Formats: sequence, C-alpha cells, structure tokens
Amino acid sequence: KEHVKMFPKNFLWGGAVAANQCEGAYQEDGKGLSIQDVMPHGIKGPRTEKPSEDNMKLVGIDFYHRYKEDIKLFAEMGFKVFRTSIAWSRIFPRGDEETPNEAGLQFYDDLFDECRKYGMEPLVTISHYETPLYLAETWNGWLDRRMIGFYERYVRTIFKRYREKVKYWLTFNEINSILNSPFMSGAINTPKEVLTESQLYQAIHHELVASALATKIGHEINPDFQIGCMILSMPVYPLTPDPGDVIRAMEEEHKHAMFTDVHVRGEYPGYMKRYLREHGIQIAFDKGDAEILKNTVDFISFSYYASVCATADQRKDISGEGNLFGGVPNPALKASEWGWQIDPGGLRYVLNQFWDKYQKPLFIVENGLGAVDRLEEDEEGNLTVFDDYRIAYLRDHLLQVKEAIEDGVEVMGYTTWGCIDLVSASTAELKKRYGFIYVDRNDDGSGTLERYKKKSFYWYRDVIASNGASL
Ligand code: BG6
Repeated sequence: KEHVKMFPKNFLWGGAVAANQCEGAYQEDGKGLSIQDVMPHGIKGPRTEKPSEDNMKLVGIDFYHRYKEDIKLFAEMGFKVFRTSIAWSRIFPRGDEETPNEAGLQFYDDLFDECRKYGMEPLVTISHYETPLYLAETWNGWLDRRMIGFYERYVRTIFKRYREKVKYWLTFNEINSILNSPFMSGAINTPKEVLTESQLYQAIHHELVASALATKIGHEINPDFQIGCMILSMPVYPLTPDPGDVIRAMEEEHKHAMFTDVHVRGEYPGYMKRYLREHGIQIAFDKGDAEILKNTVDFISFSYYASVCATADQRKDISGEGNLFGGVPNPALKASEWGWQIDPGGLRYVLNQFWDKYQKPLFIVENGLGAVDRLEEDEEGNLTVFDDYRIAYLRDHLLQVKEAIEDGVEVMGYTTWGCIDLVSASTAELKKRYGFIYVDRNDDGSGTLERYKKKSFYWYRDVIASNGASL
C-alpha cells in the first residue's frame, strides 16, 4: 500500500443528492410542479396527468424540513463538500416568470448557510432532472429554443443570489442521459418512440448552448466560480477482441464523448459532424451559437456506476441493464441487485481517459451502490444497518481513484451518490438505498422518517479523517 500516493491535501470528500429525490415539500412555499411530480414510476413507467399519491418524491425523505439534522450528520462524517441541486420550480414555479419566488430563494440561502456553518462547500447542480412541468407541457422542453432564455434567467438569478455562498456549479446533471431519457433529462413531452433523431439533436444543441452560456455568465458574475459539465460516464468495452467489436465500442462511446468534447473544446467534434451528416440530421444553429460554445468549462464532473460492452455481432447484441443506459453485459463482471455491473477498475479507466484527452481537473460527483438494506439492532440495542457490501463497493472504487491519482490524474474530489437514502431516479423506489444514513420510509408510504447511522457511516468518517489512508 505504501507506494500508493495519498489523496491531495485539499481533496473534496463528501456526498451528493438531488432536490427532487430528497426534499419532498412539493407544493410548499410557492414551489411549482416539476416533471418529477408526475413521474411516479421513474423512467420505466408512463408519466401521470397530475401528481399521484404513489409518487414517492412528493414527500421524498422530507429533507426540506429536516436538512439541518441531515447536514449535521454529514458534518459528523467530516464532509468537505455537499452536492445538491436547486429545484428550478422553487425559484421559477412555471419557469417563464419575470421575477423569482423569494421563498424558494430563501430556502437555499438557509441551506447553503447551514453547509458553510460546518465548513462544507456546496456543490450545486443547476438542473437535475427537475425542469418545471409547465415548460415541458408548454414548450416541449429543450426542443424549443426559448428554453435557453428561461434557463438563462434562472441561472442569472441564482448566480447573483448565491455569489458569495456557492463556488462550485454544475450546469446539467448527466447531460448525455437525454439520449436515453428525453422526458426526465430534457423535459421533452413528445414520447420517446415518436421523437425523431433530428429533434433529439436539436434539443441537445439547445442544452449545450445554454450550458456554455451559463459558464459565460457565471464567470462574469464571479470570476472565482468553478463551473463544470456533468457527464454520465459508462465505459463501453468491446465484447471480444474482434476489431469489429472495438469499432462498435468506439462509436458507442462517441455518442457520449461528444458532450464532453463540446464542453471542453468549445465545438462539435469531427466524428459527430459525420454522424449528423450521414443520418440526415441538420441542427439549426443561431448566429452566435458557435461563439457561445467557446465558453468552456473549468472542470469535468461525472457519475460512475458501471461499465458495459458493445459488439458488432447482432446475435450477441442483447441489451443489459446499466444505469440509465442499456448495453451488452460483460461476462467477466458481477452485477448489483438492480443489474448494474460492478467494475471498480472502470473508474480508474474513465479517469485516465478523461485526463489523457482533456487535461482538465476531474470531479467524481456520483458513485455508489443501490442495495436493499435491513435495519437491525447492534450490540447496544441501537438500530443500524450492517452494510459491509456498500463499504466493499466504495472501498474498491476509491482504491482505483488512488491508482488514477498515481497515474498523474488530477482529481478534485469525490461525492458518493445518495449519502443519505433517497428516492431512486430510474425506478422511483426508496428500497434502492445508497446512503450512509438509513431513512425509515418505505415504498408503501409507511415509516417514521427517522434517520439511523449505518455501519458505512463510521467507515466513511474514518476514510475522510485519514484523507484516504484508512482504505
Ligand atoms: C444518476 C442520477 O443517474 O444515478 C441520479 O444522476 C440517480 O439522480 C443515480 O439517482 C442513481 O440512479 P438510481 O436510478 O439508482 O437512483
């Protein structure tokens, strides 16, 4: 172990959540409905007309009322950073208003103050799968160019308001997930089955322009802001050494890599131009778009849960389960209870890939294991969860982060996903738990909402206290 470099001195250890998956209070203090309020089944099932009682997100884990208690627990673990998102519809309830909702702004003032009280840096996702529903229903989300203007007004408002409280910003959560989940990721109301590829890439273009514009505006408002893109990373390995499989895997990776390329290099890459050309897709560029795209990010952030394979052989091309994307299962890997293939080495691989290509600082802003937990009594009779499986998952991944650091990769920090149990994005369940802190709430709506420290809580506290030496 001695030969492995230590984590950098100012490494940002912490945890991550998203407003819509934990806050609840879906109608409080003037909040408007978001797309999540009509998605009781996650990305799997159909949306509903109106919020329905079986939608776990309406109450979430009641973070809106309990955030002080929760942040205190994060502080006890020693978090240096806490990643959350701002619920856009708390600030602009419909999305198209001229003036923001003061009560919504005040909530995040209080939340960020609470983090700062413990010396915890907030890391804020501006848009995390929770676009105001009105914008989806009225403008068909990011398909419409007007979204850039609504988003611009929103980012100006929050950048100015939290200028002194927030330094780290992410423009869109897993921006590339729109390829798979146009409604959740892009607020596009047109059903996926009828959405054309041209429409999809037009929406992507609007988001990319909006993201670059946010970076520009942010740097004007506060030159110290650190603004990053946020990419769903999932390496695609060739299923076999057949060169056909290698090229298939490369093409699959390109579909996602283009999002990072545009954010970091400020223009569409050649392979993407070719793809668009060959698929008869013409993106409408406004005058000035090319110039706006040149506002590139300060760092690259990404989520990492799993890897997948690709093959050119149609007979073997069965789609497995992997995060929000499919992919061919890797015969060498085991999967989580939800079918996500566990691949710690893949994290070192993506870190090196990003670094080799871009030489931009990297921030791992999501990683973790969704699992079924059992609340049990410990020796003293306190309720806890013996989540050794979660500890093993996180340790294995962090050891690979260490390896990447030794490879010379610049890593800013690591925030585990769902540092406190919350509602899943893809399946909208609470039983898929990620936290160091157990929340007593079940998918049938029962539970006291009490918080309990799991075994991993103490483990992560020691990892942070020793800056990774205890791994
Ligand atoms: C990422 C999202 O895709 O993965 C999160 O950014 C999400 O919002 C996380 O919760 C884990 O996915 P899931 O479906 O297990 O909640």
